[in-house]
Amino acid sequence: LKIGPLKGRHVLVTSGPTHEPIDPVRYIANRSSGAQGAAIGAALAALGADVTFVTGPAEVPPPLGVRVVRVDTAAEMLAACEAALPADAAICAAAVADWRVEGASGQKLKKAPGALPQLQLAENPDILARLSAPGPRRPRLVIGFAAETERVAEHATAKRERKGCDWILANDVSPGTGIMGGTENAVTLITGAGAEDWPRMTKAEVARKLASRLAEALEEGADA
Ligand code: C5P
Repeated sequence: LKIGPLKGRHVLVTSGPTHEPIDPVRYIANRSSGAQGAAIGAALAALGADVTFVTGPAEVPPPLGVRVVRVDTAAEMLAACEAALPADAAICAAAVADWRVEGASGQKLKKAPGALPQLQLAENPDILARLSAPGPRRPRLVIGFAAETERVAEHATAKRERKGCDWILANDVSPGTGIMGGTENAVTLITGAGAEDWPRMTKAEVARKLASRLAEALEEGADA
């Protein structure tokens, strides 16, 4: 039995990396652990939300109390997100691979002396931008992340406009911050009203603060 300020709300969360096959045994991936996404799923569930958690192959296990949909590729992640709609809100925390291999081989590529395989890359769909596109199934609040290494608020504000989402949680992943792969995060929340710096805190605290802000916004009926 669910109780809490998000009771009765359906929230879609994407998390983890995606794996894009080269052939049946090889793939392109990235170093996302899925830690921030898992913390967000847990925080939403703790506030009573009905969470659909669409996850790529992450290191961190999915949280308890959510509906888990496991995917590998960006294309599968997009399809799973679309199948999960309608939702009151969507939070895109996945580190989706920007490219996939066009015409991935159905058979393991063979090594041949002196001959290198030529991989043709194709652009993956932008799931955050797709979920943000106007339409009857658009979640009321769509939230994305932006990992930047410089001029964080400025770049993230531009990203918010470009993607069409409502909020962006921007973080500074410069070398030396220890944020990438670490347990802490320092974020700036970008909304239609401007930029708000949050103090450095754990990823679990970021998740709880975001979940409670989301609950407030859905309560107010705000979309910015
Ligand atoms: O464009 P960039 O990758 O910096 O944007 C990051 C945000 O967009 C994150 O919220 C991420 O989950 C989302 N994203 C996505 N699909 C992609 C690329 C990024 O949903 N193909």
